[in-house]
Amino acid sequence: MLNELFDKSKEIAEAADLLKLGKVVAVPTETVYGLAANAFDARAVVQIFEIKNRPTFDPLIVHAPSYERMQDFVGEIPEAAQLLARAFWPGPLTLLLPKRANIPDVVTAGSACVAVRVPAHPLMLSLLEKLPFPLAAPSANPFGYVSPTCAEHVAAHFEGKIAYILDGGPCKIGVESTIVGFPPEGITIYRQGGLPQEEIEKIVGPVIAMECSTSAPGKSGLIAPGTTTCHYAPRTPLVLGDLPALVRRRTTDNFGILAFAYPTPGVAPVRQMLLAPGGKLSEAAQNLFATMRCLDEQGYDLIFAEQVPNVGLGRAINDRLRRAAAQTVGVF
Ligand code: TXA
Ligand code: MG
Repeated sequence: MLNELFDKSKEIAEAADLLKLGKVVAVPTETVYGLAANAFDARAVVQIFEIKNRPTFDPLIVHAPSYERMQDFVGEIPEAAQLLARAFWPGPLTLLLPKRANIPDVVTAGSACVAVRVPAHPLMLSLLEKLPFPLAAPSANPFGYVSPTCAEHVAAHFEGKIAYILDGGPCKIGVESTIVGFPPEGITIYRQGGLPQEEIEKIVGPVIAMECSTSAPGKSGLIAPGTTTCHYAPRTPLVLGDLPALVRRRTTDNFGILAFAYPTPGVAPVRQMLLAPGGKLSEAAQNLFATMRCLDEQGYDLIFAEQVPNVGLGRAINDRLRRAAAQTVGVF
């Protein structure tokens, strides 16, 4: 890890200089790549929305190098949030906490709460430590498309449109962070992600898990993060179900398959991509978005996909698969 940092110190310094000038820079995290800017500078942050073509009602996550530094820009922290932060930061957990005035309204889309996390990527942490401000960063994909899990994915979308891409290699987790808030009704998961619900419940007991199926993100201020239905979607229509049945009832022969661990009998192997041949959910999460992108590039009429076991990281994977399939309703 030290070697990795040493080798990349020039790149980290270059990214830091550009961010200090108010530019937008793509950054690696353990979940997915982000499109980052100075979270205290509204003018810098506005560029992120423009580059991503993201509606300004969809707020951004703010990344800090430590719990202590996060206290520079949040208000009172509920006890449960303190426990979760101590247990899981740095890591794939985002907390919704009351914001202070130094976070501009554009970052939170007018909400009194800011989404914060301390990411677990050595390059990103080293960059954050060098900066006198936190980084607002959504995933580094055009709004609605699959999130990027390596620098090449980011370059494919934004080469020439952003100042710099800090290449930190492939993302180790591969799905976005789990978003947790603390409304009066009880501790709530707004987005399933890289930190499994079961791990959170070990620390704070049972939580409320929102089914993210609305297409109206942020309408009620705090609610419904990342919940436009076609979020995370490839351009090729994706149909979710029992793979052998989908193949039997197909209306086209030009299809690809996104399977969890086993190929579907009777279908040519070249049409099939497995998320985790060993059946491990962590491997499936790592491969999910890259596999969706790869299938999307094959020129198929349809992608057939199946859900994975709905436990641990499987909840986040299934959530992304359902959202990818949501815009296909009626096609098949
Ligand atoms: O793993 C991740 O969370 C990645 C990396 C880059 O950190 N980031 C990410 O950001 O996935 P993004 O913008 O693609 O998704 C964050 C979601 C948004 O859909 C947004 O609605 C929600 O978090 N969010 C951000 N700030 C919020 C706030 N103040 N209140 C409610 N939801 C918020
Ligand atoms: Mg996103």
